Amino acid sequence: MRILGIETSCDETGVAIYDEEKGLIANQLHTQIALHADYGGVVPELASRDHIRKLAPLLQAALQEANLTAKDIDGVAYTSGPGLVGALLVGSTVARSLAYAWNIPAIGVHHMEGHLLAPMLEENPPHFPFVALLVSGGHTQLVRVDGVGRYELLGESIDDAAGEAFDKTAKLLGLDYPGGAALARLASNGTPNRFAFPRPMTDRPGLDFSFSGLKTFAANTFHQVMQEEGELTEQSKADIAYAFQEAVVDTLAIKCKRALKQTGLKRLVIAGGVSANKQLRQTLAELMQQLGGKVYYPQPQFCTDNGAMIAYAGFLRLKQGQQQDLAIEVRPRWAMTELTAV
Ligand code: KG4
Ligand code: ZN
Repeated sequence: MRILGIETSCDETGVAIYDEEKGLIANQLHTQIALHADYGGVVPELASRDHIRKLAPLLQAALQEANLTAKDIDGVAYTSGPGLVGALLVGSTVARSLAYAWNIPAIGVHHMEGHLLAPMLEENPPHFPFVALLVSGGHTQLVRVDGVGRYELLGESIDDAAGEAFDKTAKLLGLDYPGGAALARLASNGTPNRFAFPRPMTDRPGLDFSFSGLKTFAANTFHQVMQEEGELTEQSKADIAYAFQEAVVDTLAIKCKRALKQTGLKRLVIAGGVSANKQLRQTLAELMQQLGGKVYYPQPQFCTDNGAMIAYAGFLRLKQGQQQDLAIEVRPRWAMTELTAV
């Protein structure tokens, strides 16, 4: 079985082909980062238009990369939510129409399920059950995963997602959107212990997160240093980045430890854009070593949005006979716990 996967939920256009026997055989991605750079964030209308422009060429490139033609494809998977409604409509309409024209089944995939299952594309995939920490630009969630579609939400952010907090703090420090990775690079030159940031919501029980306070703390620190130094030096910016990243990573690790204790599980999966963060990976690797468990994550290119994770998640569902009718339906807001089990 060969499945074409299409991702257009935000600012990356991804097209990939997953082959049941060979694994991933094509992976094409176009990022719109440069398009939105001047606006300091994703402009939904521009995102939709660019997905329209890029989908057909990426589709051709993916078929070429796999050395296949349309008749070799057995099903089409596409992101049907959550995400920007216009952007989702582009991918869904193209995907659903291709499946209709090619007379093959189509399936709408939950974007976060795509992220969650991305570590399965790696060589030593985690076995169920496990605890997953999903950390992206739009979500921060701890989920107990007992199988595909068997998700129990353990906790989530009550305000900003971790990636969003990274991006807003990066903007404060003068870095381009989305600044998560650039902030992490800046932090690597930071001085430990110069600033002490709080670890929000760790002093009370529960597995929910809150990151908007950290962003505000970063802003207050920034303005305080500005009063002392005038223009902030590169070193001061790096020191703020260091303290901010340390606080986010620490907070995430504290909650992961709690979730593992609560569930009695020893396997932790991290996925989504922020799971590319080296400090987070290192801290969680140390934690899992202490606990006698293991942390799993996708390779960096599959942490951020991509078509491969959608092709794979769609494959698992199509293989079980699940499929969408002809309606083109998108769900900008969609809880992962509503998914059916496979
Ligand atoms: O999963 P993703 O590509 O898109 C969403 O579904 O939201 O995640 C994008 C987020 C952005 O906020 C970006 O700044 C963040 O992931 N990100 C990082 C790193 N790489 C990407 N945050 C911290 N450290 C990184 N290395
Ligand atoms: Zn994503």
